[in-house]
Amino acid sequence: ALLGAGAAQAAPIADADYQRVVDEAYAKFKGVDEGANADYIPILATVPSEMFGVVIVTREGKVFSAGEMDYEFSIQSVSKPFTASLIMAEQGPRVLREKIGVEPTGLPFNSKMALEIYPERSVNPLVNAGAIAAVSLVEAKSEKERWNKVLNNIEAYAGRDLKVLKEVYTSEYESAWSNRGIANLLYNYERLYSDPEEALRVYTRQCSIGINTRDLGMMGATLANEGVNPVTGKKVLDKEDVPELLAIMASAGFYDESGEWMYRAGLPAKTGVGGGIVAVVPGKFAIATFSPPLNPAGNSVRGLMAISHIAGELGVGLY
Ligand code: DON
Repeated sequence: ALLGAGAAQAAPIADADYQRVVDEAYAKFKGVDEGANADYIPILATVPSEMFGVVIVTREGKVFSAGEMDYEFSIQSVSKPFTASLIMAEQGPRVLREKIGVEPTGLPFNSKMALEIYPERSVNPLVNAGAIAAVSLVEAKSEKERWNKVLNNIEAYAGRDLKVLKEVYTSEYESAWSNRGIANLLYNYERLYSDPEEALRVYTRQCSIGINTRDLGMMGATLANEGVNPVTGKKVLDKEDVPELLAIMASAGFYDESGEWMYRAGLPAKTGVGGGIVAVVPGKFAIATFSPPLNPAGNSVRGLMAISHIAGELGVGLY
C-alpha cells in the first residue's frame, strides 16, 4: 500500500503521527523471530538478537523513537553511502561515477563475479568492491590522514564523536580474506587508487565504527536536510549532490534485494550486516532501525518490515 509523494506533500505530518507510527512499528515487529545474525564476521554472531530500535529524525532534528537507542553496534555497510558522499564533496559526483561506477549489480554485496562481468569493475560504492575503492580514492598522503577523513565525515553526519569497536575491527580484519581478494582484484584492474592493504584496513575500520540507532537517524536526517546536519548546522554535502547519492541508495542500497525493497517501501535506503538500516524521505525526515537478525541477502528482517510499514502508513513512498 504505497501512497505516492503527492499524498506526502498534501499535509505536513504531525508530531503525534510520527510517534504513533514509530510505536506501532516497534510493537508490531518486535516479536518477529526470523533471520539470523551475520556470522561470517565471527563477533557479530554474539550481538543480542532481540535488540530492536526504531527512530524517525526530521530535517529539523526532532527525534521520535521506540526501543533500543543507546546500544552501539557496528555501522558496517551503512557507512558506504556516507563515504561515497565524501568523494562527491572532495572530488565531485563525476569522479565517483567514472572511477567507481553507479550500476546496481543484482548480485550479493561481496560478489567477485560482478567485478569480472561489469567493465566498471568496482561497480558502485555501496557494494564491498566500490566501497573499498571509495576509501582508496580519498585524497590522503598517509593512512592516518585517509582514516581521519573517513571518520570525521561520518562523525559530521552523526553530529558527535564516534569510536571504532576494536573487537569488531579485529574480528573482521582477521577474517577479511574475501575483501582482500576483492581489493587485490581491483588493484589489478587499476580500479583501486591506493595500496590495497591500506584500503582494506581503512575500509574495515570504517565498517567497525560504533553507532546507535539515534545516530543513524541523524545521519539520514542530514541527507533529508539537503546535506546539512540538523542539530550542529554543519554542511557535509552540497545540496546539489544529495539527489545523486540518494539515487545510488535507491538502486543499490539493499544489494540484490534493491528492486524488492523499492517495490515495498519506495525509499532510498542503506542496510548493514550489523543490523542497521537507514531510509531517507528527501526534504522531510529519515527512518532508522537496528535489529541484528538478517535475511539471506544480508538485510535486517525487523528493520525492513518496520521501515516499509512506516513508509506505507505515512504515505511517503516516492513513487
Ligand atoms: O565488508 C563486509 O563484508 C562488511 N564489513 C560489511 C558488509 C555489509 O554490511 C553488507 N550489508 N548488508
